[in-house]
Amino acid sequence: MMNDIENIRAQFPGLRRDVAYLDNAATTQVHQSAIDAMNTYIAGGRSNVGRGLYPMAEKTMKEYDDARSTVANFVGTDAGRCVFTKSVTEGLNTIAFGLRDRLQPGDEILVSAFEHHANLLPWRRIAKERGAIVKTMPMLADFSLNTERTISMMNDRTKIVAVTMMSNVLGTVLPIAELTDRAHQVDAIVIVDAAQAAAHLPIDINDLGVDALVFGSHKCYGPAGIAAMILSLDLIDSMDPMIVGGGMADRVTADGATWREGVEKFEGGSPNVEGAIGFAASLTTLPLFKGESEGVLRSRLITDLQSLPGITVFDPPGAVGIVSFTIDGMHPHDVADMLGAHGVCVRAGNHCAAPLVEKLSATGTLRASLAVYNDERDVEALVSNLKEIVKKARA
Ligand code: ALA
Repeated sequence: MMNDIENIRAQFPGLRRDVAYLDNAATTQVHQSAIDAMNTYIAGGRSNVGRGLYPMAEKTMKEYDDARSTVANFVGTDAGRCVFTKSVTEGLNTIAFGLRDRLQPGDEILVSAFEHHANLLPWRRIAKERGAIVKTMPMLADFSLNTERTISMMNDRTKIVAVTMMSNVLGTVLPIAELTDRAHQVDAIVIVDAAQAAAHLPIDINDLGVDALVFGSHKCYGPAGIAAMILSLDLIDSMDPMIVGGGMADRVTADGATWREGVEKFEGGSPNVEGAIGFAASLTTLPLFKGESEGVLRSRLITDLQSLPGITVFDPPGAVGIVSFTIDGMHPHDVADMLGAHGVCVRAGNHCAAPLVEKLSATGTLRASLAVYNDERDVEALVSNLKEIVKKARA
């Protein structure tokens, strides 16, 4: 286990000591292993996949297949269940599209109060198209899920449960296995947005028992533009593909077409091969960093923030990786802008989770989000600059 922070930081060439990068829930810096893997592949001569019969194309096909296996293994499954998409958003839209025909008027889709727009808007859209109803699993006053109420909301009208594993605003961790047990008792399909969870929590899809889980590379120290949509074999067989075209068709006749079987059915178009290779490399490295240090740093961050006047810090029980806060009388965008000018990178606003953030604050929150390479110096940079900004604003 690597735990010397300078050793870890040296493996991320995008990091600088004059910048406190605390916007990791938006995107992380890229690990050297991912950069090296992509460089080696591209510089070695690339080809497309699934189309060429020459040795270079076969080599690329093997690297792409190996990347798929590595990414699937990261969440405890195999390549036959792993579809590459360009983003988590695209994956969730693909699933919503694929499930639309299963909905009848009056059917219910449950989403949680913690959803990012990516796991809310696709469900709202298909609900509207099909006359179904989107219901919201409520949040408790301590910013955790009201699990008891949620369980009681599931009944034979519930067809889909779409839920995040970890809030991108609060770091709240949701009880996925418990929700899935109940959802399956009523024959609902469970879809999990693991965009934030993948870099912070161990994920074994078999333990969770979910039908679909989506996570991306760029929050896991890999390149942008590539994500994994893990589907049950039943969903792979039964869902219609959202994207049709080259690479996913089996037989195309004058007036019809059939789709390939398996994951390729959902990968129309030339895929992001270098992205998949970089994604796999970053995931191979990520488990080496997992440890206690992130929790310790998050506690320190919360304690130090709470020492500032006029601050509200949102700290749900059991939360990981992310801390949202507001400062009385100051707009989060103004504060983030001033912090940025002092080399401190945080996100401000509604974090693409407007229904949740509106419950916390009318103007949005500031959000600091941690990664394996953050340490006390980053926390100190944030808190000392905030102290000055607040002092000046109140002078
Ligand atoms: N979903 C990313 C975030 O929460 C972009 O910042």
